[in-house]
Amino acid sequence: MAFYDDTVEVMLPAEQLQARIAELGAQITQDYRGKELTLIGVLKGSIFFLTDLARHIDLPITIELMGVSSYQGGTETTGEVRVTHDLSRPMHGRHVLLVEDIVDTGLTMKFLLANFAARGPASVKVASLLEKPSRAKVKIDIDYKGFVIEDRFVVGYGLDYGDKYRNLPFVGVMRTD
Ligand code: IMP
Repeated sequence: MAFYDDTVEVMLPAEQLQARIAELGAQITQDYRGKELTLIGVLKGSIFFLTDLARHIDLPITIELMGVSSYQGGTETTGEVRVTHDLSRPMHGRHVLLVEDIVDTGLTMKFLLANFAARGPASVKVASLLEKPSRAKVKIDIDYKGFVIEDRFVVGYGLDYGDKYRNLPFVGVMRTD
């Protein structure tokens, strides 16, 4: 029995996540053929998606990490976004793919897209494993989208509740019973 069996119910099993991520990787490989691509993972939630996605991209990519904080400990975003870890190199002239775990209100991604536009990249696209469109406060075009989910608070595969549950191999919802 796993530590999360009593508290978390599976929503997207590991096999379904991996199959979809393989498809997204193949699509990205095709779209960026002949180009140099930098994947930018948004800490901490995207790291599981980032590393699995990267292994399905058949191109000589580079990887960067960017830390932002929008949650002040609860389950609702405040809309205020703070950079907690910046990139190690300039993005000028580079093809950039921002990799997120979930686009919820869209406020974090809106902030990141504005922040990146100012760095003069050759192009910027967005990959997000999940999207919760019912919660959107701003419209974000997700170029590579894993799954659209309903308005439930999800954990696992990078997503946390109180910084825990990120290491589950699937995406699940907290049990309320
Ligand atoms: P947004 O700015 O509201 O789009 O929120 C983006 C960030 O909020 C994500 O990168 C997650 O870290 C966090 N978040 C949003 N929804 C959930 C959820 O259901 N579970 C865990 N974290 C979430």
